[in-house]
Amino acid sequence: MRTIIEPFRIKSIEPIEMSSPEMRSEWLTEAGHNLFRLPAERVLIDLLTDSGTAAMSARQWGAMMAGDESYAGARSWYRFEETVRRVFGFAHVVPTHQGRAAERILFGCTVNSGDVVPSNAHFDTTRANIEYLGGHAVDLPCAEAADPTTDEPFKGNVDLAALEALLDARADDVPLIMLTITNNTGGGQPVSMANIRAVAELAHRFGKPLYIDACRFAENAWFIKQREPGYAGTSIPEIVHEMFSHADGCTMSAKKDALVNIGGFLCTRDPSLAEREKNLLILSEGFPTYGGLAGRDLEAIAAGLEEVLHEDYLRYRIVSTAYVVDHLHDAGVPVVRPAGGHAVYLDAGRFLPHIPALQYPGQSLAAALYQHAGIRGVEIGTVMAGRDPDTGAERPPQLELVRLAIPRRVYTQSHMDYVVEAIVEVFERRDRLAGYRITDEPPFLRHFTATFAPLG
Ligand code: F0G
Repeated sequence: MRTIIEPFRIKSIEPIEMSSPEMRSEWLTEAGHNLFRLPAERVLIDLLTDSGTAAMSARQWGAMMAGDESYAGARSWYRFEETVRRVFGFAHVVPTHQGRAAERILFGCTVNSGDVVPSNAHFDTTRANIEYLGGHAVDLPCAEAADPTTDEPFKGNVDLAALEALLDARADDVPLIMLTITNNTGGGQPVSMANIRAVAELAHRFGKPLYIDACRFAENAWFIKQREPGYAGTSIPEIVHEMFSHADGCTMSAKKDALVNIGGFLCTRDPSLAEREKNLLILSEGFPTYGGLAGRDLEAIAAGLEEVLHEDYLRYRIVSTAYVVDHLHDAGVPVVRPAGGHAVYLDAGRFLPHIPALQYPGQSLAAALYQHAGIRGVEIGTVMAGRDPDTGAERPPQLELVRLAIPRRVYTQSHMDYVVEAIVEVFERRDRLAGYRITDEPPFLRHFTATFAPLG
């Protein structure tokens, strides 16, 4: 059969409130033209994020009822710890309420002012946590990542020569190396096993630990199985094991590939670092056997980490994203290719070439998609890139993108058909879209709360 169906049936539904373009124009103005400021009920198809938006399985809900809410040493903690150790292969597991808490604790124990932390590309919270400590978060994506039109298989890879040059020049200032799989900022593109292995070899040659930002680890493993020679016959759990065997630890937002609505963890092989991390954890997250989570959350994560490794799930997941990307590409819409794992990235720079970077083409496109069809995406361009902490200047990124992130197991193919149709319609009248200016912005992570006014 050509059609790949959703490998689940729907047991519980959540109605969508219908609205008109006129109503949405008014709501957009009320929200300061920032889609983060919209009440979610005013959105028809919410593609703001794939984070914490998954639909859980009946098995996960069942596991939640069995959650042990003991403060210390709960049964649910031991089940969670055993599952994380089995899937990722790290000895020490520290639970946190979400991914950025894991980042804050890891960097709080390792990064000092003036340090440099290289990565293929840091996600915004990773960057912000490093910069908050006075460090520099440096992105070293491979050259192929710069061209959104080519079909290279592993555009998430690190530029190994650039990493080696940085380590040669500044090894003393590098406390650790990060690797984001898949690379969210760069289009949800995967990192190959060969690149993970090479980054680890380089890191270890300089005596530096490698930490993986593991949010979308299962999607990355699926791409390795599909695209990297030698892995077609390897099971997903084995690929995952091999990926992490090269690393010294990881940070994880369970809100992505653990198929839950809240949670995270960090792992390490270093017992003394684990001790320091747990001491910091107690200050803000909680006791090391729950770390800011309820016992039921730990149960749902443990179950989700097993479900996400199923090949039927991963095939459906990756094919759904590619379905939207391929249809848009066929209609002539500029979109990052090849399709990534968790999201469709519209190339707003090429979609709206008449809007300059400092008039925020991605913001304009995201607002237009909402107004036209009630679809909520997010700008990943000049607005999100923010300002240089040293100079205060805006720093336009390589690409001006709008990300349409697809929640896991939530929307069906007809929702995706509607999304494709809406984007094509906005594309047909793209000449009418104008830029924006910022009317108010906070000092960090400005995209969440800034307000805008349309130009012209
Ligand atoms: N790392 C990556 C690669 C991420 O994509 C995210 C979150 C985090 C870390 C932080 O995790 O939200 O649990 O604290 N990304 C979400 C997104 C917010 O929409 O891409 P968190």
